[in-house]
Amino acid sequence: MPGNIFAKKTKAHEIFKDERFLYPEFVPERMPFREPEVDGLVFSLQPVLKGKKPQNVFVCGKTGTGKTATVKFVLNELQQYSDRAKGLYINCFQLNTRHSILTQISNFLGDATPRRGIATDEAFSKMLEALKHVSFIPVVVLDEADQLLHDKEASKLFYDLLRVVEYGKGRFGLIFISNLSNFVALLDDRVKSSLSEQSITFEPYSPQQLKEILNQRAQYAFHSNTLGPEAINVAAAHAAKLGGDARIAIECLFRAGREAEKENSEKLEVRHLRKIFSEVDSRALQKAISYLGIAEREILEIVPANKAIASGSLFEAYSKASKKPLTQRRFRTLISELEKKQLITAETAIKPPRGRTRMVSLAFPKARLEEKAKKK
Ligand SMILES: Nc1ncnc2c1ncn2[C@@H]1O[C@H](COP(=O)(O)OP(=O)(O)O)[C@@H](O)[C@H]1O
Ligand SMILES: [Mg+2]
Repeated sequence: MPGNIFAKKTKAHEIFKDERFLYPEFVPERMPFREPEVDGLVFSLQPVLKGKKPQNVFVCGKTGTGKTATVKFVLNELQQYSDRAKGLYINCFQLNTRHSILTQISNFLGDATPRRGIATDEAFSKMLEALKHVSFIPVVVLDEADQLLHDKEASKLFYDLLRVVEYGKGRFGLIFISNLSNFVALLDDRVKSSLSEQSITFEPYSPQQLKEILNQRAQYAFHSNTLGPEAINVAAAHAAKLGGDARIAIECLFRAGREAEKENSEKLEVRHLRKIFSEVDSRALQKAISYLGIAEREILEIVPANKAIASGSLFEAYSKASKKPLTQRRFRTLISELEKKQLITAETAIKPPRGRTRMVSLAFPKARLEEKAKKK
């Protein structure tokens, strides 16, 4: 009699002790290398402990630099320390209309109005009304806040919040989080000065830092002696190459661990990592593409698939094709943003008879852009 197929499974080598420690939404109890950023947030929020107005904070930095985890960590600590403050976390990818966000805030403030069926302005008045009666100081976090800028109606939310801050006489705290370094610059002057009193930038992690973050996480996630000698170094180096992104580093370990279990290997080895790198990379790419603004995406669509284009010609082609022309300066900024996101390369070339130009090429297969566009 052949053995039962599940019996085989129970004899298998187990790599993970508890894989939940590698889930992307896991919030660690400590954030190594983010002490100055944590201190900055604590400084801005601490007036709340005395019932006073907190500073509104703008947090920026590339993906995987620990923005979300750090802000959630600080909010948790704040709430544990004092019941004067309560945090509400909103991800503007998931909740991306003015109406839904206002309603969410109202509900959080204790107003039980159902989500549908009322006009946005009414939702706003309800929120102000609810704010009058709260016994705590609300601290609202808008993560991926730049998502609201794509849409005119959604952008109005920033004015709403400005009014809330004024109306609440400061008994209302706001934290914006964005991947875009120029997010604040894109806001209106009044909104800018009032809603972003303090800004904190998260720099990408170095390979060494990624290694330590992985080591710390691995202790909880894996059984002892299940990691091959070079596994953490290789995962850290890979994530460092992709921009110092801790999420990618952790995801690589997670997937490679699964791969190792699938093979019934005793240890997670470098070969398991190599096997999953391309899949992780292409998901990272998809994510980067989905975050793009309209102009950035349009620029990418104009760059030819397999050859470089001079940035001057790209600008001309863009200006012809797009309904929304850009100034040269803004165009250059977007080019360097795209370069930072590693979606294009822009190499400086000598352009005869004199002068230089930047030769722009796509850093990924163009078909990927269309895949995403179809999905949207
Ligand atoms: N300093 C750190 N220590 C431990 N884990 C970290 C650290 N920074 C980031 N992480 C982890 O890396 C992943 C990505 O972090 P996240 O806060 O989502 O980045 P961001 O919001 O900047 O894109 C999360 O799983 C997070 O827990
Ligand atoms: Mg985040």
